[in-house]
Amino acid sequence: MAALLFSLLALFLCHQPSATATSCGVADHGSTLQVLHVNSPCSPFRPKTSFSWADSVLQMQAQDKTRLQYLSSLVAGRSIVPVASGRAVTQNPTYIVRLNIGTPPQHLLVALDTSNDAAWIPCAGCIGCSSSTFDPAKSSTFKPLRCGSPQCSLVPNGGCGSASCGFNTTYGSSSISAGLVQDNITLATDSVRGYTFGCVQKTTGSSFPAQGLLGLGRGPLSLMSQTTNLYQSTFSYCLPGYKSVNFAGSLRLGPHSQPIRIKTTPLLRNPRRSSLYYVNLLAIRVGRKVLDIPPSAFAFDPNTGAGTVFDSGTVFTILVKPAYVAVRDEVRRRMRGATVTSLGGFDTCYSGAISVPTMTFMFSGMNVTLPQENFVIRSSAGSTACLAMAAAPEGAVNSALNVIASFQQQNHRILIDGGKSRLGVAREACS
Ligand SMILES: *[C@@H]1O[C@H](CO)[C@@H](O)[C@H](O)[C@H]1NC(C)=O
Ligand SMILES: *[C@@H]1O[C@H](CO)[C@@H](O)[C@H](O)[C@H]1NC(C)=O
Ligand SMILES: *[C@@H]1O[C@H](CO)[C@@H](O)[C@H](O)[C@H]1NC(C)=O
Repeated sequence: MAALLFSLLALFLCHQPSATATSCGVADHGSTLQVLHVNSPCSPFRPKTSFSWADSVLQMQAQDKTRLQYLSSLVAGRSIVPVASGRAVTQNPTYIVRLNIGTPPQHLLVALDTSNDAAWIPCAGCIGCSSSTFDPAKSSTFKPLRCGSPQCSLVPNGGCGSASCGFNTTYGSSSISAGLVQDNITLATDSVRGYTFGCVQKTTGSSFPAQGLLGLGRGPLSLMSQTTNLYQSTFSYCLPGYKSVNFAGSLRLGPHSQPIRIKTTPLLRNPRRSSLYYVNLLAIRVGRKVLDIPPSAFAFDPNTGAGTVFDSGTVFTILVKPAYVAVRDEVRRRMRGATVTSLGGFDTCYSGAISVPTMTFMFSGMNVTLPQENFVIRSSAGSTACLAMAAAPEGAVNSALNVIASFQQQNHRILIDGGKSRLGVAREACS
């Protein structure tokens, strides 16, 4: 009986999304890859249990904490091992794409990470990785990189385990042991020869995404740096909305079919934190009111790593304390009288609606006005609404970093134009 009920339910769920939904088997085409939410019905990594709205918000906040620790380690240029918390938090990736590796191609779904350079692929026999791994023995084009190869000097702590190049590094609270290797990869229908990536042999801790990751950061080993002839350091992505995990967004590689009419802001170069996409945030407007935030809150400092980055692996935007407080106070002022409640790290929640129609991030040369769906998170029943941002933890090395995160980016196309060193934002209904 239970089994019958279950299959009826499954049938119902499968039919629900109908024509507009993502079809899981759909092929990526040209230089465009589907970007799936990790909880999408097409994702093998979706949680097996379903959470209540409040629990899933708390879980995303907890993952953001781990993510911020990871970004901070990039900013600080050293690894930060978090103080053990009561419960280990897995840093699940939020978005995944398909990647084909080797000859004949082996298919993997990997996490997309715009703040990381390297591709880390779990290899067969890996201790602590997920069950879906890449098997080098089954690829005729696979080759480990020799010690002393130029690439070997680019990885953090690269060195010689045996005769081939290997490295030990950290990702959030995980430690990773990998060999530096090369193989051909295929992205949608584009072939990339001799792509250099880390073949992960061992991982401990819970931060490393089990499925591995594709780094779209700015540094020398990132996908963009390895494919400059093919993609000219240009890509864009559109992240599907959180309310519709059934839908897919897209990752478009290369200068072709990129939006022509798009607002842009210069990317700032930080040689010491080469993977991150720093921009110059100048001010924030709530409705039409420009908030009184000291410029120091946004100041870019290549030495300390302070400033503002775009990151797709953090869910909720993090602002340094004075900036967050100004935003929060303005939202509360407009809700005058209404009882404010909190939900985990969100301290500005209301039952019912929040009467703030728009919020504008003012970057140099570009104002991005977000509709409410990009800064207010609402329970599915509609009874609770929270300002979906958080203050950076104080005192920590990360207290000076503002992170424009994926909730704020959803249903926008984010263009990275490395050639012209600029970042563009345009509204797009990508789900
Ligand atoms: C990485 O760590 C492992 C175990 O601690 C060690 O055997 C290996 O030689 C290290 N590799 C490199 C490249 O340092
Ligand atoms: C893979 O790379 C080798 C050389 O590295 C090349 O000869 C071969 O054609 C490539 N295969 C594909 C499918 O691109
Ligand atoms: C952004 O908006 C402000 C008004 O709030 C305006 O003064 C400024 O020129 C705008 N910037 C751009 C690049 O449009």
